[in-house]
Amino acid sequence: MGEAIKELVEDWNKEINGLTLQEWANELYNAMKEKITKEKLTFKVVNPGTVMKLLFLWKYMRNPYLHIMASRRDELKRKRRNAKLFYLDLYAGNGVVEVKIEDDSIKIPGSSVLALLAPILLHQERKQTPPYGYYWDLIVLNDIDDSYRKLLRERYQYILKQTTLMPIYRIYHALPSEVKDKWVAITEYNCEKDETWNFFKQYFLQTVKGPNGWIHGLIFLDPPSPSAMPFRFLKELLTVPSDIIALLHTGIFVKHVYEQKYTVDTLANILDCDRSKAESLLQKTHSYEELEKEYVNKFRNLLQGVRMQGISKGSPYRDFVKEIRLYTGKGHYHLVVATRTTAGPEYEEWHNWSAKFAEEVEELSKYDQLDHAVIDILTGRQATL
Ligand SMILES: C[S@@+](CC[C@H](N)C(=O)[O-])C[C@H]1O[C@@H](n2cnc3c(N)ncnc32)[C@H](O)[C@@H]1O
Repeated sequence: MGEAIKELVEDWNKEINGLTLQEWANELYNAMKEKITKEKLTFKVVNPGTVMKLLFLWKYMRNPYLHIMASRRDELKRKRRNAKLFYLDLYAGNGVVEVKIEDDSIKIPGSSVLALLAPILLHQERKQTPPYGYYWDLIVLNDIDDSYRKLLRERYQYILKQTTLMPIYRIYHALPSEVKDKWVAITEYNCEKDETWNFFKQYFLQTVKGPNGWIHGLIFLDPPSPSAMPFRFLKELLTVPSDIIALLHTGIFVKHVYEQKYTVDTLANILDCDRSKAESLLQKTHSYEELEKEYVNKFRNLLQGVRMQGISKGSPYRDFVKEIRLYTGKGHYHLVVATRTTAGPEYEEWHNWSAKFAEEVEELSKYDQLDHAVIDILTGRQATL
């Protein structure tokens, strides 16, 4: 197993409040078993390779993100600035992912649950006594599915009850109009709509940050398909100071363009391009590789090109963007992470790690070993990697 992936696996296997991540997922599944139809209790994944996004998110949240940004927040608070850290998950799921492995399956926590467990693990490892330094001031979980949101609420309540290492969070059904102390909002916006992105942008920059405040966040973008995340609308949100981790469905994008499943307007919104460009792409004159490149490069350019508002130190641009090809037996995806190179010297170590990680994952993709590798990690069969 490559050194960088090995580090990821070490993190994945840690216990949080006495339970491994898989044990947490099983508890969250069993506790809610009676409350909702079986079909909706988990988010099912048939392509194990894509789960690399969750392993990556888990590592990134604790270190570098919370490790570094929480001290930045402390520093600002000492200067009497109103500083806040947020986690925003726009396609949050229901908290438990079920990965199909042959005739069996394994349950693991979804992104939204990982976001709550990450600070708990940091507190546990650093043996902090209250007041705990690593926490999100606000967590926003958005999903269009009613039963998923209901599960998220119950699962969050369950975790908060089980662990004492967390500050008390209040859970809201919508974004509160006044900024509260430590809260979770479970919202129901449709990401296909322009208003959604604008609304979140205004909310974070105006309601949460305000004229003299400071905010920074981690935004996780895990859409079900390219049309659920039109770049034209997404770019609004990119003005909010944040790091981005996203999974792009490159394979679906190319297939739908080839099969002319998008209208010109939908494609123009997905790519944030003009109509004539969208029309030309729908003519089937571009190769598979060209279309993939078009999609991934457009995303990269947006991430790098949009200026973040209210950055007080270092570059206002996300000048570090890394795409990691996740090619699995069943499809093509890109895991993309964007942050700043000027976020501090401690990020440098992470930059080196991420370059190695990308190389190792791409190697697995090249030889069609990614699904196997992830299955081995989840089942603990690391020796074959
Ligand atoms: C790939 S899943 C996310 C899985 C999640 N990240 C996890 O780790 O459990 C995509 C989610 O997006 C939601 N969704 C689909 N279309 C949406 C839309 N237009 N707006 C908001 N959410 C949407 C689905 O209900 C689904 O839960």
